[in-house]
Amino acid sequence: MSDPRVMVTGGAGFIGSHLVDRLLELGYIVDVIDDLSSGSLLNLTNARQNYLGRIFIHQLDIRSPALLELARRRRPSTIFHLAARTDVTASISNPSDDLSVNVAGSIRVLEAALAGEATKVIYATSAAIYGNPTFDLLPIDEGNQLKPISPYGASKRAVIDYLEIFRSIYDLEYTALVFANVYGPRQGFHGEAGVVATFTERLLAGRPCQVFGDGTSTRDYVYVSDVVDAMIRSMDSAGGLLVNVGTAVETQINVLFELVARATGSTLGPRVMPLRVGEIQRSALSIERAKAQLGWKPMIDIRDGISILVDWYNSRPVEFVNRRLRSR
Ligand SMILES: NC(=O)c1ccc[n+]([C@@H]2O[C@H](COP(=O)([O-])OP(=O)(O)OC[C@H]3O[C@@H](n4cnc5c(N)ncnc54)[C@H](O)[C@@H]3O)[C@@H](O)[C@H]2O)c1
Repeated sequence: MSDPRVMVTGGAGFIGSHLVDRLLELGYIVDVIDDLSSGSLLNLTNARQNYLGRIFIHQLDIRSPALLELARRRRPSTIFHLAARTDVTASISNPSDDLSVNVAGSIRVLEAALAGEATKVIYATSAAIYGNPTFDLLPIDEGNQLKPISPYGASKRAVIDYLEIFRSIYDLEYTALVFANVYGPRQGFHGEAGVVATFTERLLAGRPCQVFGDGTSTRDYVYVSDVVDAMIRSMDSAGGLLVNVGTAVETQINVLFELVARATGSTLGPRVMPLRVGEIQRSALSIERAKAQLGWKPMIDIRDGISILVDWYNSRPVEFVNRRLRSR
């Protein structure tokens, strides 16, 4: 029997590249679809060096009709769909671009899944779909109302409807994983939990950091290897379900700042800025469904995660440093 084949959209991005690494370790042949708009081939350096002939990188926009022909040829059994515009602020200034990539692009991915006779799509959605829940509902479970407050959140919510529709009309199975704020090595500054990367990089460089609002807004920070673990477990579980992937723990932004400052040995204080439009005040995700359906729970707490991240920053290859300097 030939080796199992999967496709990862957004596979050159932060989370996608960690998923690709894990899939290759597990023996899969992996097709990466990425237009490299926010991702980078640098993120796949190890994968390309160590798994020659098992990883295929296609620089392609997910909106392109060529994706259907590609899926027909490559015939992945599962498609992990992570390609997206991930910047909430950019979604407010350019909602039609967000809609085009995140919704129309996702529909193209579902069409490709049908064309290639994939049996499952695992979709990366976001806590932004829940909007600003009343605080007594925290940590939010999957039964909560979906009331996004940004175009990004709306686009991430819309795709869930399409997944359900494709499941009922075409029998295409899906799991939609609701990521909390994911952090870890290779993260860009602009995505949802980019604040962890930003604090770490700036404090290590002796540069000040901005904190938006009074520092009491909260997020649920989940380490990237835990997220990858949940995605792998979803390959044969949790069909037709929305499943939160977080820690259920709220961390205030000023506490996060302190943790990163301590781990980097910095004595700089934060610069306080007004809260940005479209930002959620407090967030934490209940993980009871992930425990029950995926047998999953997070293994890395925020202190350990930050410590691993700081070590990575201190030993990262020089190409990453140069790329960061260019993206500032
Ligand atoms: N990082 C988080 O905290 C977080 C939280 C919730 C949900 N998510 C979701 O997880 C997924 C991955 O996020 P990430 O943080 O790794 O972001 P990322 O920007 O690092 O990765 C996204 C990847 O998609 C690619 N891409 C963007 N538009 C594309 C297009 N039109 N065609 C092909 N490729 C395209 C980018 O080049 C990039 O490699 C996204 O769907 C995001 O919405 C992330």
